[in-house]
Amino acid sequence: MTAQPYPHPSGATPPALGPERSPAHVAVVMDGNGRWARERGEPRTEGHRAGEAALVEVVAGAVEAGVPWLTVYAFSTENWKRSPAEVRFLMGYSRTVLRRRRDLFDSWNVRVRWAGERRRLAPSVVKELDDAVQLTRDNTGLTLTLCVNYGGRAEIAAAVGEIAAAAARGAGERWDAERVARTVSRAITEESISAALATPAVDLFWRTSGEQRLSNFLIWQSAYAELVFTDKLWPDVDRRDLWEVIRRYAERDRRFGAA
Ligand code: IPE
Ligand code: IPE
Ligand code: MG
Repeated sequence: MTAQPYPHPSGATPPALGPERSPAHVAVVMDGNGRWARERGEPRTEGHRAGEAALVEVVAGAVEAGVPWLTVYAFSTENWKRSPAEVRFLMGYSRTVLRRRRDLFDSWNVRVRWAGERRRLAPSVVKELDDAVQLTRDNTGLTLTLCVNYGGRAEIAAAVGEIAAAAARGAGERWDAERVARTVSRAITEESISAALATPAVDLFWRTSGEQRLSNFLIWQSAYAELVFTDKLWPDVDRRDLWEVIRRYAERDRRFGAA
């Protein structure tokens, strides 16, 4: 049974844009949790805790706006550089948030997926992610991809490796090395790499907290994304911020290299 998200208490509604002005894939760098906590004299982990509500709001906003793909950056391959206590908190917290929210997302017909490396992740985190994916796999609404232990360069390297391995295997034993090399080389194309990644091309790349960089998020998919940077810290965000960013996107003139 599919329910629409509860409306925003302000009564705000999503922008009414035609499909050609609406982004099909929105990527979000949910940034600023640490600063949000510091402003309140609290430990950084309180900022992560407060970020959960913003995530639920933005998922609700994407569902209401009819966005087909939403991909969010929850933990980067570089975030292991943080203190052991913060890393431990973030891992445990991803697990808790998934368990707490997956039925709600499921009720909104959201299909949950995850992108990232299994390596280094605790088995309990992988299990929680896999369970949420399994529970929601047949849903037909928003596809929400959670990027946990994700790095854009690592994703591209893994995709190219898989394509090359498949092509080499298909070449068979009878071929000489030169012919195998040619086959593998021809198999690696922009199209095959794009198809091997977890998510399609990004239309709108949104980062909160005023930072203006990609931080290794969806770097291949965002080659022609419209970049929008907003100043609010992630825990202060609600679905109206997503809608405002979508309105800004709709005003952009996307040329893709054409005159
Ligand atoms: C984003 O907030 C959340 C994660 C990286 C997990 P930060 O923790 O990066 O917050 P700031 O950038 O230090 O304020
Ligand atoms: C990117 O934010 C990762 C996530 C939001 C999960 P960071 O805060 O880790 O990125 P940098 O260090 O400012 O580039
Ligand atoms: Mg940050």
